[in-house]
Amino acid sequence: MMDIIDFLIEDHNRMRLELSKIHKQLNDPNLRQIVKTFITDFETHESAEEDILFPALRRYQKEELGPLALSYDLDHEKIWELLDELMSTVDYGSLDHIQRVYFAFDSLAESHFRYEERTLFPIIRKIMDKKSLHSLGAMAEKHFKQRSHPIFALEGVGTL
Ligand SMILES: [Fe+2]
Ligand SMILES: [Fe+2]
Repeated sequence: MMDIIDFLIEDHNRMRLELSKIHKQLNDPNLRQIVKTFITDFETHESAEEDILFPALRRYQKEELGPLALSYDLDHEKIWELLDELMSTVDYGSLDHIQRVYFAFDSLAESHFRYEERTLFPIIRKIMDKKSLHSLGAMAEKHFKQRSHPIFALEGVGTL
């Protein structure tokens, strides 16, 4: 059973690799399918955070999370907007335009991952006990498995 924070960070690293692959495929005739697959898996990640991690966190009702949780929700919203834009650009935009939207998305995603890893997750580790983090990890694993998420293709994941 895995700590939910370790699990999410592992998936950030998987997505970082995926994004750098997509970067090299912006010209690919299958770009739409490539981006779509990425978005589906990305969605699984964000919904695990929104549906599993956050509700558990709210039960702790620690004051210090207030403003953080707010900016976190805004971050997620911005990400969804850019993803929508990316999808419609892939359909109708020029390569130039696709690249622009892709770069905007890529840098927002990276700053979001970094924010979670450096600011939010360390706070969560401080306020939640190990046992809860592991049982949330088990829930997250189930959530990812039900959606046939590619993280299980990575060696060693789920065995830590
Ligand atoms: Fe997130
Ligand atoms: Fe995340």
